[in-house]
Amino acid sequence: MSEKIYDVPAEWSKRAWIDDAKYREMYDRSVKDPNGFWAEQAKRVDWIKAPHKIENVSFAPGNISIKWFEDGVLNAAYNCIDRHLAKRANQTAIIWEGDDPSQSKHITYKELHDEVCRMANILRTRNVKKGDRVTIYLPMIPEAAYAILACARIGAIHSVVFGGFAPHELAIRIDDAKPKAMLSASCGIEFDKIVPYKPLLDEAIRQASHQPEHCLILQRPMCHAELRTGRDVDWETAVNQAIPADCVEVAATDPLYILYTSGTTGKPKGIVRDNGGHAVAMKYSMKSVYNIEPGDVYWAASDMGWAVGHSYIVYAPLIHGCTTVLFEGKPIRTPDAGTFWRVMADHRVNVFFTAPTAFRAIKKEDPEAKLKGNYDLSALKIIFVAGERCDPPTLHWLQEISGLPVIDHWWQTESGWAMVANMMGVEEFPVKAGSATKPVCGYELKILDESGQELPANQEGYVCIKLPMAPGSLPTLWNDDARFRSSYLNRFPGYYLTGDGGYVDEDGYVFIMGRVDDVINVAGHRLSTGEMEEIVGSHPSVAECAVVGIADELRGQRPVGLVVLKDGQTIHEGDLETQLVALIREKIGAVAYFRNALVVKRLPKTRSGKILRKVIRQIADGEAYSIPSTIDDPAILNEIADAFQTRSIGNAFALQEGL
Ligand code: COA
Ligand code: AMP
Repeated sequence: MSEKIYDVPAEWSKRAWIDDAKYREMYDRSVKDPNGFWAEQAKRVDWIKAPHKIENVSFAPGNISIKWFEDGVLNAAYNCIDRHLAKRANQTAIIWEGDDPSQSKHITYKELHDEVCRMANILRTRNVKKGDRVTIYLPMIPEAAYAILACARIGAIHSVVFGGFAPHELAIRIDDAKPKAMLSASCGIEFDKIVPYKPLLDEAIRQASHQPEHCLILQRPMCHAELRTGRDVDWETAVNQAIPADCVEVAATDPLYILYTSGTTGKPKGIVRDNGGHAVAMKYSMKSVYNIEPGDVYWAASDMGWAVGHSYIVYAPLIHGCTTVLFEGKPIRTPDAGTFWRVMADHRVNVFFTAPTAFRAIKKEDPEAKLKGNYDLSALKIIFVAGERCDPPTLHWLQEISGLPVIDHWWQTESGWAMVANMMGVEEFPVKAGSATKPVCGYELKILDESGQELPANQEGYVCIKLPMAPGSLPTLWNDDARFRSSYLNRFPGYYLTGDGGYVDEDGYVFIMGRVDDVINVAGHRLSTGEMEEIVGSHPSVAECAVVGIADELRGQRPVGLVVLKDGQTIHEGDLETQLVALIREKIGAVAYFRNALVVKRLPKTRSGKILRKVIRQIADGEAYSIPSTIDDPAILNEIADAFQTRSIGNAFALQEGL
């Protein structure tokens, strides 16, 4: 089992396990009486027709159905905007910060209402109706938020695709969601690089079998996109011509959006989010997890293409009546490693949330946080991190330089909000480095062994959630109930399989230790090594391959390929590596950060032919490992270590016990 790191300040040493009454009371109620608990929380959102049926779930084999608030009717955009107009019309709803510090825009709730209503009408006049899909491929600009909310307003299902994905990835998502319309822009900005989006969009549509009827294209001043007559529409012209559209009535169980995330194969999973459960969870989380009040300024420095962006740039802060910050820049080089502090100070941010990788990037460039000294951060109360495990050195650095609570919390695209957190609005627990603290209300977390038995404290196993999960979590995968069942529910009947391994300590703190499947996390981006293997394996010289995520100081993990050549192939390792790097860039995108492919004579396998990927990763990371008893030929492990050492990749050391 991995080493535990305790980090409880002396003055808190008793509080953690004695004084948890408030949390315990709320948590117990949430799991023992979900109907009562969530009925109460549901009163905090606006319903067109209030729900009387709260939880209706069935996990009978062949008849899985997850419904929250099923007789309720509401509109998510109404909850984000319209309901605040009486009180907050002139309050800033969105602050947009460009990558250039001179660019910034404040959009009030009233202005947001106007923009979203017009956008909704553009879609409606192009025959986009309730239940139709709309794919959004936009950079981090206010129009991305307008587009999301416009879809919600008319009951269309949005599918936002991260701007860093290559056309091939976008094409897969177009073919799965089959959008009637697509919304995009002429370009995005990556540091000092302009990334033209329109050629990527055109190429994706060329590759896709499904063809959207309309593409609405926003021309940004730094790059002009060629529009295709008949299909493409100029965004600004259309907006100017549009009249506002009202909210439509949407059933709580209707899908609000599809968000694709990496699974273990080349086909991403279309996570479905419902309307009612999502709205209730978003509202509940703002106070209970983030301890923020309506009217406060909340900033999630993420991307709208990820779950964090959906939930905590757009929906939750707006449902709660906060001001949300939308930042197109990066933690560093836009223009420097003081950018985050500057934006927090300029806009009096109260609660901040980002991925640990962003702070690692800042720490690398400004280890003593000197740039922070230039700014007044007196409004800032809490810093949250998620998206990957927060390594203790980064946590300690952040605690020290900020003097604030630094709260790691754990969640997934599938849940849409935190499943484990220090619930700062309920009861603040002492932080233990390496732990995301305790299960969030509504999530009954269990650690199971291979056979599905619950493990005692401190034993590492599969992190699972006893069904049902809290509202807001996925009710299914888009058009794929069977995959929903096989990916998450079949392995341990009665439980949701998260795909993470971890343990709970004797004080009930949850330690998430990493994925137990073929998913890796590169700079906060969730990617599939299974998909990378499919792509590497498609190269004509490659007989077989394994892609593993090895430790990376900045990005947390990065993928590395091990490749066995087909008999008779004489391609030079360097040439093959160049071609494979280009192939992954072309198919997935630069974000995959695939930089190395090592040619080896053979891969370590079990006698039944299963590649021992975990052992490869442990070798690369210089971690102790035990030689599996099922291994075909243990000597291969030395060859693998040699391959990493020869190329100075990772921290491989050659010899392990018994070799
Ligand atoms: N659109 C287009 N390309 C993108 C992109 C996007 N949205 N995001 C990343 N890329 C490209 C980069 O330009 C880079 O391309 P290059 O190889 O041609 O230079 C490549 O993908 C790798 O990017 P990345 O791994 O992000 O490295 P970086 O050096 O550009 O930036 C960080 C490093 C840490 C600053 C950056 O990864 C970061 O801000 N991470 C935080 C992510 C985050 O907030 N995730 C949310 C989870 S809550
Ligand atoms: P995503 O669906 O992109 O949010 O990625 C979810 C995965 O990221 C989880 O299954 C974890 O492996 C990892 N993850 C997210 N947050 C944390 C965290 N706080 N600690 C450890 N791992 C995390």
